[in-house]
Amino acid sequence: MSVVILGIESSCDDTSAAVIRDGNLLSNQISNQDVHRLYGGVVPELASRAHQANIIPVVDSALKLANINKNEVNAVAFTRGPGLLGSLLVGSSFAKGFALAQNIPLLGINHLQGHILAHFVKDKGIDRHPSFPFLCLLVSGGHTQLVVVRNYLDMEIIGQTIDDAAGEAFDKCAKVMGLPYPGGPVIDKLAKIGNPQAFQFAKPLQKGLDFSFSGLKTSFLYFLRDRLNENPNFIEQNKEDLCASLQFTIISILLEKVEKAAKKTNITEIAIAGGVSANSGLRGAITQLGEKRGWNVYIPEFRFTTDNAAMIAIAGYYKYLNGDFTGHEVIPLARFPL
Ligand code: KG4
Ligand code: ZN
Repeated sequence: MSVVILGIESSCDDTSAAVIRDGNLLSNQISNQDVHRLYGGVVPELASRAHQANIIPVVDSALKLANINKNEVNAVAFTRGPGLLGSLLVGSSFAKGFALAQNIPLLGINHLQGHILAHFVKDKGIDRHPSFPFLCLLVSGGHTQLVVVRNYLDMEIIGQTIDDAAGEAFDKCAKVMGLPYPGGPVIDKLAKIGNPQAFQFAKPLQKGLDFSFSGLKTSFLYFLRDRLNENPNFIEQNKEDLCASLQFTIISILLEKVEKAAKKTNITEIAIAGGVSANSGLRGAITQLGEKRGWNVYIPEFRFTTDNAAMIAIAGYYKYLNGDFTGHEVIPLARFPL
């Protein structure tokens, strides 16, 4: 018998629904919330309201696109956390209502596990995924972690940021330069035509496999403040070089630790996941490093890097196979460690 999972993602500012049959993607609809651009960051109250408006049309369109009737869905998987509580409440309440109405099981998913398991979504016959155990660099707007993945639902964090996440470093530095939110993709684009060696920024030294980005942010801020004192047009005149140098620094902080972790664990299957894994500089640099070190490197397709429900549905699929269901008394968690 085949297994159809409806996935719901609403942890931050994207409302998404996806349908997966036996691990194969049938649809993955995402509704982005442009309203936050006006404020230079996600406004939680506005995010929950937008989820509330978007969730039914997004689910409806995911089911239609998948050509699946709601009676054919075997279970509904939703993001339980981590994320913005008001946003998570919309997705979890919808999922509970849907499961109750259809009399099907509910699967509460950890968003971070979802990002990592996005590698296992099969799409139009394409099925290239890491083998266990693999090492995953999970880099998003809220998290930066090195994770040993032993099995679909057996993961261990061996290193993580002690302050800002990599995505936050991109977004906060972009804000300082007056670039629109979210800054990560904008920096990525401008960095392509800049010189990564033009400027040097402090690389905070962090012991072991942990990361730190707040020192870099401060050093970037002070550097700009000094230069702007001399030349008020400094940012405008050097935007591309600033972006390229900043991106280069963030990538080298990340890759130094990946290299260290690979050595320590003796793992040569290396994956990246999360919103920042969309960064073209990171994708290129880890591919090159992998060739040098003899690793097999796994880079997710762009549409599976930032928040999406396909990753929640695939995590739900493996939980379903394990019989790991969630009761209706479950509440979303703003903090939800792996
Ligand atoms: O995984 P995600 O969609 O949401 C969270 O779970 O946080 O990640 C969003 C983060 C933002 O910080 C955004 O700036 C960053 O991913 N991001 C990028 C790129 N695309 C998205 N950062 C650098 N380069 C990109 N191309
Ligand atoms: Zn995410």
